[in-house]
Parts: sequence; structure tokens; C-alpha cells
Amino acid sequence: MDNKKIIAGNWKMNLDYNESKELIQNIASSEGDFNADAEIVVFPSMPFLSVFHELLKDNNVRLGAQNCYIKNSGAFTGETSPTQLKSLGVTYCLVGHSERREIFAEDYDLLAKKVKALLEVNITPVFCCGEKLQVRESNVYKEFVMRQIEESLFSLSPQDLAKVVIAYEPVWAIGTGKTATAEQAQEIHNLIRNRIAKEFGEKTANSISIIYGGSMNPDNARELLAQKDIDGGLIGGASLDADLFAQISTSYSE
Ligand code: PGA
Repeated sequence: MDNKKIIAGNWKMNLDYNESKELIQNIASSEGDFNADAEIVVFPSMPFLSVFHELLKDNNVRLGAQNCYIKNSGAFTGETSPTQLKSLGVTYCLVGHSERREIFAEDYDLLAKKVKALLEVNITPVFCCGEKLQVRESNVYKEFVMRQIEESLFSLSPQDLAKVVIAYEPVWAIGTGKTATAEQAQEIHNLIRNRIAKEFGEKTANSISIIYGGSMNPDNARELLAQKDIDGGLIGGASLDADLFAQISTSYSE
């Protein structure tokens, strides 16, 4: 497989400017503690991106945004466009995090448009999917996650789909301290890869990175990252600590 290992930190709406700056400086100065074979990405709050781009200039840590709009300019008060992000040196952007689907009612169609708008300016979309506890318990969780992927990603060309990173984040595991077991996560990752292979061919399926999110920490990362179809992690809580974040990044087994 030629897909990338990715360890990404989703800071959400946490930390004020000074706290965020301290964290980014800690990450930048402890670069040697991070896994050099993995792409390390941080997703701080939008207003800090410009300054943080400067701070990360001589560093391999990549900068990501937590959200964007579907248009590049115009009368869309409060929104940020893919071209604006691009001009700040942003190279990744989250799309469809469960908090945005749930709190901001983002639907399949909007998310499909966000993915396309980002790809047009060469920003890598990190497309999040995952089921709530209710769906998991009702046993249609596989169909549910497949539908999220099909509805928002399957109108892409194979070349474009290969540029997307998919993050499987079971909602019941986000911020709850309750991680999916390695088997539960691998089951869905494998399903996603097989579904992509069926629709777009093995080459595309094998080049796409599928990362896991939901209470990942240094204690559970090794087992999760050892799974065949788990290529990395999208880490919330534990990414707010540079040491824990670095430890997770080095949890790939040889
Ligand atoms: P968590 O968040 O690691 O705090 O569970 C993950 C995410 O929401 O991306």
C-alpha cells in the first residue's frame, strides 16, 4: 500500500491564543520526538492559522483548518473560503466532523461540495464519518457509514478520491474516553477500503489513507495503529498535550 501515515490533532474550539501558541511551539520544538515517517498535522482554531503558519515555516508539521465554506469569495458573512485557507499555507481541512454534522446540520450534499472546493485548490480534505451510539446498537452501523461515504465522496473521480483522507470516528467514542476496540475500528476501515475498491478499483483503495478518531491516546494507539487498514489517527483531547501527541505518533509497530 502506498498510503500515508497521518497523525492529526484536532484542537476543536479549545485554548486561547497564548495557550495555542505555547502548544504549537512545544510541538515545533519537539519535532524530533515525533514519528518522522508520519505526516503530523495540527488543526488549531481559524484565527490563529496565519501566525502559526509562520511559526511552522521551518518545520515538517502541517497546518490544517477545522472547517471551510464551499465558495471561494462572496457575500458569506462569517465563513472562510478554501482559497483564503490556501493563502495562509493550510494544506489540510476537516470536512464533516460529527460535531459539524450534528450542531451545524451539515448534510451529505454540503459536505460533497466542501470536498470538491478543497480539492480544487489542492487542500487535502480529511473527511470524517462515523455512527452515533444509537446507530451502532441498532446494528445498521455499517450501512450508515457506507452511506456517509457514498453520498459525499462517490461522485469524485478515482484520482480525486485518492487525494482525500478518510477519518472514521465513531461518535460514541469521541471525547468519551470510550475507544472502539481495534477489531471494531478495523472492521469499518476494511469495509470502507473494500467498498472503495469495488467502486474505484484496488489502486485507489490502496492509496487512500483511512485514519481512526475517538479517544485515541498513548495507551490504545499501538493496538489501533497495528491494524491493517488503520493508517493513522485523528486525535482530539490527547493532541492538546505535545508529549501525548508525540507518543501517539510513535505508536506504529515495526
Ligand atoms: P477525541 O476527539 O480524541 O477527544 O475523542 C477526536 C475528534 O473528535 O476528532
